[in-house]
Amino acid sequence: MSSPASTPDPLTHALQQIRGLIEAGQLQPAAQALNAAQKQAPLDARVPLVGMRLAQRAGNLAGATQAARRALALAPGWHVAQIELALLLAQQKQGEEAVQLAMQALAGAPKDAQVMVGAINVAHLSGQSEQAVAWAEDGVRRFPEVAGIRLFLARLLVALGRPSDAQVHYEYMHSRVPEHEETLRGLLSCAVRAGDNDKAAQWAEQLLTLKPDDALVQYWHAITHGQMPTTQPPEVVTSIFDDYAPSFDLHLVRGLKYQTPKVVADALLACFPDRKFNLLDLGCGTGLVGVYLGRIDGHIIGVDLSEKMIEQAARHGIYSRFHHINVLDALRETPADHYEAITCTDVLVYVGDLTPVIPNALRILKAGGHFIFSCELATEDEADLVLRPSQRYAHKASAVERLCREAGFVDVQIEHLPTLRMENNQPLPGFIVTARKPAAAV
Ligand SMILES: C[S@@+](CC[C@H](N)C(=O)[O-])C[C@H]1O[C@@H](n2cnc3c(N)ncnc32)[C@H](O)[C@@H]1O
Repeated sequence: MSSPASTPDPLTHALQQIRGLIEAGQLQPAAQALNAAQKQAPLDARVPLVGMRLAQRAGNLAGATQAARRALALAPGWHVAQIELALLLAQQKQGEEAVQLAMQALAGAPKDAQVMVGAINVAHLSGQSEQAVAWAEDGVRRFPEVAGIRLFLARLLVALGRPSDAQVHYEYMHSRVPEHEETLRGLLSCAVRAGDNDKAAQWAEQLLTLKPDDALVQYWHAITHGQMPTTQPPEVVTSIFDDYAPSFDLHLVRGLKYQTPKVVADALLACFPDRKFNLLDLGCGTGLVGVYLGRIDGHIIGVDLSEKMIEQAARHGIYSRFHHINVLDALRETPADHYEAITCTDVLVYVGDLTPVIPNALRILKAGGHFIFSCELATEDEADLVLRPSQRYAHKASAVERLCREAGFVDVQIEHLPTLRMENNQPLPGFIVTARKPAAAV
């Protein structure tokens, strides 16, 4: 028999069991047991916190938030409740309150690495990248051996375009665990971003030995060995955008002056001034095209490979449906003559080769329908398709125009934009294509 000192009190034991039920997905018995615990200890803040987990697991974000607030009301200043509530608020775009709570939790529990991880996450989810980096840097100083914090910091730095700062942390990790997969991937991405192909090839080689069947690794291996894949595998896309989703709008629109979805939405409304059309938004991301369009008299269907980007888009309540698939599959599988309009903003830079895209877009448009998309610019003395060091594809405008006309589009118009958005403090040039499917013969 264990000693009384090592036996948890009955309530602690009951709450541990309820947590186990929640983790196993047995929500009904968990709810019953929680009700009993609530009656037994109505003023114990741990009870609503387990209630929060239950609501979270049931997908009830509002209920989870209410439960976390109750826990905090019962135990003001309890850092666990503060950070849990902060995480929930950050997910619901209530960043200001979330970050305030995270600060309080950090002040109250400066030696708790879990609170530090939570706070970094809160800032990241709230789109406050600089705060997330500041906390992660502080976390690395305070908890140098907690790999999770160091890797989080390195990922944030890569996402913020600071590969050489990230590399220092990946190298530290590599010196401790030489075959750690995420570290090798990080080192590879830093070398790629820094334009150091020899190093990148070396990391890709090591990764391929560890993960010979991994599409992402194969892709990087090909690139670093001088080949140009004609499209990015889905794993590359999701690895970028699942991480980027929470801060995408703030970082891109405010930080990098990204205006393409607005330009595309305006072009679309010029084609359909009565707002009567059904739209397929390929690579919808966080739904900015829908946001700039506002309500239309028709459906907007979003397609995206990143579930996290779709989650952000769904919040606007403007899209009727989403398909979590590759745009190439959506284009291939959608029946003919289906939509009045298709948009694809800042997506073909990841798709690359347009030969399967443009004819299928024509096929699935209704007669007279419009395809509007954006590309990054390859100059006329470059190849038709170029993979930039940013790992995005640039297209030559004349080649894109030719593909559209050859597929059967008419009124193909190219609008050159000197600045699609900023990149490394420089304007990134591109163009918007508007193409129309011919009206049906009468
Ligand atoms: C830069 S974001 C642009 C999002 C949105 N169109 C906008 O302009 O705000 C690119 C989006 O395309 C998605 N994407 C890239 N390649 C894709 C593919 N092959 N299939 C589906 N989605 C893709 C990414 O997940 C991401 O959400």
